[in-house]
Amino acid sequence: MRLRPEIIALPAYKQGKPADASAFKLSSNENPFDPLPGVIAAVTAETAYNRYPDASALALRERLAAKYSVDVDEVHVGAGSVALLAQLILAAAGPDDEVLYSWRSFEAYPSLVTVAGATSVRVANRTDHGHDLPEMAAAISDRTRVVIVCSPNNPTGTIVTKDEFEAFMAVVPTDLLVILDEAYIEFVTQADAVNGPLLLARYPNLVVLRTFSKAYGLAGLRVGYALGPVDILNAARSTAIPLSVTAQAATAAIASLEAETELLARVRIIAARRDATWQALTRQGWNMPAPQGNFLWLPTGAETTSVAEALGETGLVVRPFPPEGIRVSIGEEDAVATLLLMSADLVEALPADHAARQIG
Ligand SMILES: Cc1ncc(COP(=O)(O)O)c(C=O)c1O
Repeated sequence: MRLRPEIIALPAYKQGKPADASAFKLSSNENPFDPLPGVIAAVTAETAYNRYPDASALALRERLAAKYSVDVDEVHVGAGSVALLAQLILAAAGPDDEVLYSWRSFEAYPSLVTVAGATSVRVANRTDHGHDLPEMAAAISDRTRVVIVCSPNNPTGTIVTKDEFEAFMAVVPTDLLVILDEAYIEFVTQADAVNGPLLLARYPNLVVLRTFSKAYGLAGLRVGYALGPVDILNAARSTAIPLSVTAQAATAAIASLEAETELLARVRIIAARRDATWQALTRQGWNMPAPQGNFLWLPTGAETTSVAEALGETGLVVRPFPPEGIRVSIGEEDAVATLLLMSADLVEALPADHAARQIG
């Protein structure tokens, strides 16, 4: 069969490992809280399965447009923000074009670029695991069609500051699409972090991506949104697979916006649990970046597989990215307690000069 060789060569999408009933699934940055009863009721009431959904999810877009004080056409809804990433990359980049992003970052970026027929250009994260925006700006070429900035960055948990982002945008050509992926923005507590929607009016080349999967706990229903200029979003709409956002997903998203106060209170609990865990790990001797998403990054390097296996043996299913590190989602309280029981021994067992250990 004559299939595209670059597609055949792609590794299959690797989902976070499932966990059996006695284990904690900390491998996909999911929200550990059960859905709110009101959200379940709204979804359950949506029974017209024999009908196609509203193709543009207008009711949800109206809610989001009001929330962000933008026009309804400056909002585009997709079946998860990963679908929006795919659409935007397809809209802007094809064969001979480059898509630039920091690495390591969200594991879907490389394959989405390859599927579009374009070429990935990766700029290494700084040694503190954050984006190196000056290096990224320097890597822009005549062929660059998209730049992806991820804040907080999956999997390192670092943010891009507002000042860093503005300095970056000042040197990026205004006809080059910049996607600011803010899948975890609701968990951010650092005051100087970039906040995309506040900058939209300033940049004609900026699209901000957000999702209901993480803070709002709707990962299983698949709904996310893009905010940005109408011309760019219309191009994304043209590359979209029509009718992908179900009525149930749009309804759940609207019900979640209505229950935002309650949901954001849960987000604050997860963020507090994250900060307490990071502080405890740091006290144990771990050297790791301050986390701003709903996950932690253990830069275990060459020891990544063995540490992930040790965690797995105690019932913590985490996400190893050998040979760089391990991403651990902030899940249930008991999961965090289990992690902290083991992590002191694990850091002690690392070589004395290991990057994941504090010096001295
Ligand atoms: C940085 C980042 N962007 C986008 C996504 C996609 O999320 P979803 O398609 O569920 O909205 C994820 C999911 O893990 C992510 O980590």
